[in-house]
Amino acid sequence: MTIIVAKPGEVQFPKGLEGAIARETTKGYVDGKQGKLYYHGISIEELAEHSTYEEVFYLLMYDKLPSKEELSILDMRMRQYREIPDAVYEFIKDRASGYNVHPMSVLRTAVSMLAPFDDASEEQSMAAAEREAIKITSRMATITAAIGRARRGLAPIHPDFNLPHAANFLYMYLGEEQDDFMNRLMDVLLILHADHGCNASTFATLVVVSTLADMYSGVVGGISALKGPLHGGANERAMAMLDEIGDEENAEAWILDAIAKKKKIMGFGHRVYKAYDPRARILHSYAEEITRRAGTEHWLRIASIIERVMIEKLGAKGIFPNVDFYSGTVMSSMGVERKLFTPIFATGRVAGWTAHAVEQLKDNRIYRPRFIYVGPVNVAYTPIDER
Ligand code: ACO
Repeated sequence: MTIIVAKPGEVQFPKGLEGAIARETTKGYVDGKQGKLYYHGISIEELAEHSTYEEVFYLLMYDKLPSKEELSILDMRMRQYREIPDAVYEFIKDRASGYNVHPMSVLRTAVSMLAPFDDASEEQSMAAAEREAIKITSRMATITAAIGRARRGLAPIHPDFNLPHAANFLYMYLGEEQDDFMNRLMDVLLILHADHGCNASTFATLVVVSTLADMYSGVVGGISALKGPLHGGANERAMAMLDEIGDEENAEAWILDAIAKKKKIMGFGHRVYKAYDPRARILHSYAEEITRRAGTEHWLRIASIIERVMIEKLGAKGIFPNVDFYSGTVMSSMGVERKLFTPIFATGRVAGWTAHAVEQLKDNRIYRPRFIYVGPVNVAYTPIDER
């Protein structure tokens, strides 16, 4: 029976679609009980150790690890698509450093702006969907780097077609080529953020593409959902918390007070993980080296105290650090400003958004859940001057 009208609270349903199944997927699996994450069956630990972002993108898109030749074709296509129209650079220059502008707003608009410059964006075929996915994934890095530079009043640096994806991003953003450790760390950050089940931004992307709107529209939906502090925006707030605490002497008292006041601690908790997020563990291992190199070990010391107290007090409830808790410390120590954390998250996650979008299009049905209507019915219309 379909219930259309009910009294408030009469029909029970999980808020936030918790536990609802959106579709079947072969892309990734989050084992929230064991604290494990797999991309098409391969554990995130293995991928973070051995793979590259380009290879992970291939794995997510095509459900297999590529041969050398397959990887080099994808890599070449990603390099070819890197450049963005001058008008998009201009827009970024004009708006990215504006007062109170969040770079996620600029990223959202810049990605949207790409579509009218792309004659092929409206093509409706599986080949077109895959091609647009590769284009957008490649270009997001260029846009994010240009935003990061414009925010510092610097001219954009155009892509270097000789560099791999992650190394090219750092080159465009920081202005010079980085060493192997930095490039590897950037690659790992993008790999760790590439996919994560039916999260809000992936679901938003799928809702949009299920209407057969173009891939750009789907990715703009994903960026919009990722922007919020309950999703991608938690990383910058977690970092703001470390800055506010300032000194490790204050950390324990600060966090105990926050827990007592029932504050939501950013970078902790997860809808699916009720154990330690494996991505946080991987980032923690890199955090030691990068904070040592940057002389920012105090952030890691504060973070360790917060983590210990949170697990002591709330671990039994299934609240542990998530990826956003350590990504801020790592990225800040790499020289990334706080407001750019979420655009970088998006620059990684676009692989998952578009791989899921292509999977959805192979077997599409428009998303159309229902509300339970709990308002009045048969209400007479009152003319405006009688109200
Ligand atoms: N700090 C303190 N308590 C928490 C936290 C937290 N970070 N997260 C959850 N809780 C508590 C809630 O207060 C609630 O307690 P109650 O049962 O006593 O009311 C219980 O744990 C369940 O929390 P919900 O908010 O209902 O969990 P939900 O699954 O809806 O939300 C979310 C998950 C949004 C991630 C939540 O844990 C949160 O807000 N965390 C902080 C923001 C954050 O770090 N987001 C990043 C998520 S990962 C990502 O998107 C990359």
